Amino acid sequence: MTLMDLFTLFLVLSFSLNHNVVGGRTLSREEDLELERQLKILNKPPIKTIKTEVGDTYDCIDIWKQPALDHPLHQDHEIQMEPSSFPEGFDGETSTIDKEIKVTLTTVDCPQGTVPIRRTYKEDLVRVKSFMEAYSYSSIHPLTKDSPGKHFAVVESLDKVPTKFHGIQGYVSAYNLTVGAYQTTSSQVWLETGYGNSLNSLQAGWMVSSQFYRDNFTRLFVFWKTDDKVTGNWWFQVNDIRIGYWINTLVPRLEGGASRVAWGGLAQALPNRPSPPMGSGHFEPDDKRKVAYFRHIQTVNQQNFWVVPNVTQFETYISSPTCYYIWPFGQIWFKGYLFTFGGPGGNCGV
Ligand SMILES: *[C@@H]1O[C@H](CO)[C@@H](O)[C@H](O)[C@H]1NC(C)=O
Ligand SMILES: *[C@@H]1O[C@H](CO)[C@@H](O)[C@H](O)[C@H]1NC(C)=O
Ligand SMILES: *[C@@H]1O[C@H](CO)[C@@H](O)[C@H](O)[C@H]1NC(C)=O
Repeated sequence: MTLMDLFTLFLVLSFSLNHNVVGGRTLSREEDLELERQLKILNKPPIKTIKTEVGDTYDCIDIWKQPALDHPLHQDHEIQMEPSSFPEGFDGETSTIDKEIKVTLTTVDCPQGTVPIRRTYKEDLVRVKSFMEAYSYSSIHPLTKDSPGKHFAVVESLDKVPTKFHGIQGYVSAYNLTVGAYQTTSSQVWLETGYGNSLNSLQAGWMVSSQFYRDNFTRLFVFWKTDDKVTGNWWFQVNDIRIGYWINTLVPRLEGGASRVAWGGLAQALPNRPSPPMGSGHFEPDDKRKVAYFRHIQTVNQQNFWVVPNVTQFETYISSPTCYYIWPFGQIWFKGYLFTFGGPGGNCGV
């Protein structure tokens, strides 16, 4: 298994996906018709279609016809190609380490004025629903973190600190891990406010999920959860590529900043079943050839500056220390604040 240094993940205050899911495993005629109806809405007429090496189909859709714009909150939305402002103090460094494994962030060559959108099939809609049911939400809120089948190894902001976060970034190592049935593993960042029905959560990173994708490929993912309440947008950037943004009205409780942020790993399995590997899949915190890490972790403060974490306001959290570890190295001058994490998984108890 090889390591690559990877991508910088940014979530910055300064919108775009829409996934409504219905239907069960055995579909009634009505459910089936409903899924057909949704597919019609989600899959816009493509200007060009591309099939990637790993078998995904991407449609190039007119940027003004992308499904995200069907959302009622986006009716009169003016698409931004660049953030109106970007936090200061960003060093712009991109990874120089060769990508030694193939991450499914393939270049999809869409014509100007179009955006690549992965085609949605009926099975996807059904799978998303069972995925959500099985895992509910992968929030870092203290009351959901201990749910059975979820295993976190994260560096997170302390709950009692009133600091507001306006962005998060970090370089993360990516590995191609192998997962079993109904398992998902991710290395990611979280940016959240609220809990339960009022949770507003933005998440991004890489993920391997047999349940969601039916394969073992490492993929870049974004996830968001909002309450049903109805400018400054939240941008998502990988290295120097601005992927897109969430308009702030979609996640209203994050306006004015997030109250919780975290970097780290999340391994998910069905309750009381063996859990998947996390990070690099190894348990050697300081073996350079085998570790998974986050480095150069930073947040955006209220003054719109990138800042290193104030160590008194952050802590490490580990759900299942027999299966996973997290090891904070602290500040390493040329790599910023760095920590390693991960583990092989297995029978972790819950
Ligand atoms: C991981 O990637 C390496 C290098 O591309 C490859 O040799 C190996 O077979 C991959 N492993 C899995 C489990 O996909
Ligand atoms: C993932 O890889 C493992 C080991 O090669 C294999 O047993 C499993 O069936 C694969 N899962 C999927 C969904 O392809
Ligand atoms: C770090 O946080 C502590 C406690 O909240 C605070 O007293 C201290 O001033 C902060 N340090 C810096 C450099 O902001």
